[in-house]
Amino acid sequence: MALYLKELVEAQPMNDIGGIPKKKIRVPDLVVMKKRGERIVMLTAYDATMARLFDRAGIDVLLVGDSLGHVILGLDTTIPVTLDAIIHHTLAVTRGTRRALVVADMPFLTYQIRAEQALRNAARLFQEGGASAVKLEGGRAVADTVRKLTAAGLPVMGHLGLTPQHVHRLGGMRQQARDDKTAQDLKLDALALEDAGAFAVVLEAIPDAVAEAVTSRLHIPTIGIGAGPHCDGQVLVSYDVLGLFDTFVPQFVRQYAQLGNAIVSAAKDYADDVRQGMYPPSSAPCRETTSMLALK
Ligand code: KIV
Repeated sequence: MALYLKELVEAQPMNDIGGIPKKKIRVPDLVVMKKRGERIVMLTAYDATMARLFDRAGIDVLLVGDSLGHVILGLDTTIPVTLDAIIHHTLAVTRGTRRALVVADMPFLTYQIRAEQALRNAARLFQEGGASAVKLEGGRAVADTVRKLTAAGLPVMGHLGLTPQHVHRLGGMRQQARDDKTAQDLKLDALALEDAGAFAVVLEAIPDAVAEAVTSRLHIPTIGIGAGPHCDGQVLVSYDVLGLFDTFVPQFVRQYAQLGNAIVSAAKDYADDVRQGMYPPSSAPCRETTSMLALK
């Protein structure tokens, strides 16, 4: 085992301080967490305020996902999301984050044309956005690119199974790897990503048993979304978890709050108060105001 990994294994657990973790999460920590059997917790984040709250809650990894196309920009797919948009939101998230590892998504066609193109675009996410890692979709087809990015010092998280940037080829947002052939293909893709130097792989919308088999085969952690409980970690779109995005709620999502309803109710109360002259209340005049009035 590399010396730095050994030191990390012997260091204190990542999540041990009464549920309020302190240690900054770095890329190699995720492999250590897998080895220790500590589940990795990941959520998407798109702005500094939410990032600050998630960081305070001890979320390990914040993903500036291209899901921002759906939940922030109101798009039907992630395909029109631009690199500039991801940089803009990554910068906001990194400003609000102290402990969590910030991973930025590489948008559609910003890494598929040539490895050199991928390198330049990934570099912008690090240099201009402050990301600590990037995520890209695909397996063997992008393995060479993953190798080049990693060799240049840019850590890469893979993404297999339901890959939303391939929505048109897949024919919709549906479960993948449902038969032996496609499950075997997914396993080969995962091994190719690991071999190319990826430090983790998101497994989206695949059967639990396939996710379990891939997780036990890889040395790097798997982060599941709609892939059952056997992955090394879990990720969800924060707007789904908080009950903010109700256009479509995937079956596997658990809503831990109903902030959408709370926001509608608070906005209605504010509107009622303004319309009825209840807000703002008149305040007791302070000395300066009284003397200004006396001058009139
Ligand atoms: O864009 C995104 O939010 C994602 C997660 C759903 C994994 O890729």
